[in-house]
Amino acid sequence: MSNIELLDSLKQQIIDELNCPLKDAATNIVFGKGNPDADIVFIGEAPGEQEDLQGIPFVGRAGKELDKLLNQIGLTLDDVYICNILKYRPPKNRDPSVDEIKSHTPYLIDQLKIIKPKIIATLGNYSTKFVLGGFSPDNMKTVNGISVLHGTKHDVSLDGISITVVPIYHPAAMLYNPRLRESFTQDFLVMANILGLTPKNSPQNALSNFM
Ligand code: URA
Repeated sequence: MSNIELLDSLKQQIIDELNCPLKDAATNIVFGKGNPDADIVFIGEAPGEQEDLQGIPFVGRAGKELDKLLNQIGLTLDDVYICNILKYRPPKNRDPSVDEIKSHTPYLIDQLKIIKPKIIATLGNYSTKFVLGGFSPDNMKTVNGISVLHGTKHDVSLDGISITVVPIYHPAAMLYNPRLRESFTQDFLVMANILGLTPKNSPQNALSNFM
């Protein structure tokens, strides 16, 4: 089966079997978007209002910022896959609970095992702690926060696949705290460097466009 077919059947499996109160309140499952064969996977936190309405991750304001930065380093949705820790929206966009992370992340792991990315960019605290905690909700407390880890490079292994991880500030954080914009842009350049990509402008120009 192709990755598209495998991901479609995983999505259906979540719809059929995930037992989580978030599901009852949600409009849609928000499973993932982008290229199912991508080398780079971005993992966010949880769907917001627009994502819940459309059933697509990162289509709201934070998503627009993510699109701009991807474009700046020459990437499109054809090059990346984007998904979240939680597959259903928490009410009023509250933080994910431990129980929700525990019930949703086995599906995220299955999603990653299908895609087999070479690079994971974790967006914000939740995905950073989950991935760098060895894909285990139980280890999340032992991992430093995003303000310490953003823009650094780590190696993890999942099911025998070696993956480079780059934690990046969540684009929504930048909307609330514009001073993070510079860090966010710098983190993308770290990733572009790891990928061997040349940003559309020189790094200095790329940065000045976003500051
Ligand atoms: N924030 C996230 O973490 N994920 C989305 O899909 C949208 C906003």
